[in-house]
Amino acid sequence: MRIDVVTIFPEYLDPLNVSLVGKARARGLLDVHVHDLRGWAHDRHNTVDDTPYGGGPGMVMKTEPWGEALDEVLAGGYEAGACQPVLVVPTPSGRPFTQQLAVELSERPWLIFTPARYEGIDRRVMDEYATRLRVQEVSIGDYVLAGGEAPVLVVVEAVARLLPGVLGNVESHRDDSFAPGAMASLLEGPVYTKPPEWRGRTVPDVLLSGHHGRVARWRRDEALRRTVDHRPDLIARCDPAAFDRKDRELLAVLGWQPGPDGRYEKAPEGR
Ligand code: ADE
Repeated sequence: MRIDVVTIFPEYLDPLNVSLVGKARARGLLDVHVHDLRGWAHDRHNTVDDTPYGGGPGMVMKTEPWGEALDEVLAGGYEAGACQPVLVVPTPSGRPFTQQLAVELSERPWLIFTPARYEGIDRRVMDEYATRLRVQEVSIGDYVLAGGEAPVLVVVEAVARLLPGVLGNVESHRDDSFAPGAMASLLEGPVYTKPPEWRGRTVPDVLLSGHHGRVARWRRDEALRRTVDHRPDLIARCDPAAFDRKDRELLAVLGWQPGPDGRYEKAPEGR
């Protein structure tokens, strides 16, 4: 996969040299190019922003540097044999970034990221490239960061670990929390490793039992408990057919019952 990032803070992307993404690059699985947007600014001060039309606080990133940068990055990538780029635009007003979207992006050969600072990029840039490419505006969560560089690191890491050959074991992401196609999207429960006792704290016996069936059931119960505690919305969204008899028993103990449409809902207190 080829990845281009155009930013006014190229050094912010240095973590792409480290750990999983760094190793994937070193092994030739990822071809990452970071570009300084100011290289496409033409005035003495390398200006890339201006005041917003219509007034209001903050500054807006200008069309011209982005247009020239993207034209050049696109031409360079096409020349190098890349095709079907997706323009990934981090913005708090974008589509929520989920595991599903990470999988979709991991199937594309080329991603171009345009992390913005200030109040964002002049809309005409996205409108212009949307006539030629898939433009995907993404939000990594309901909070506002100072810029899109941290979201780029988040998206690249989530995508890179899905690329064939990047993780040692393909099974590693089959059980991920939120893995699409999982029968029910549950959070993963707790994990343990050696030693069997630490500061008087032991490991649940079942994990040392060697009994695969009981281990699987225990993991499922812990996943259900954790999801009920931290993400009850995921339980409410699950297809009830995804719950087996033991799941339903545990959900009842935790105060969840099927509602009129069959989906599970938290029983009102005192029922
Ligand atoms: N830029 C600023 N905040 C952001 C967010 N939550 N997601 C994506 N890009 C952003």
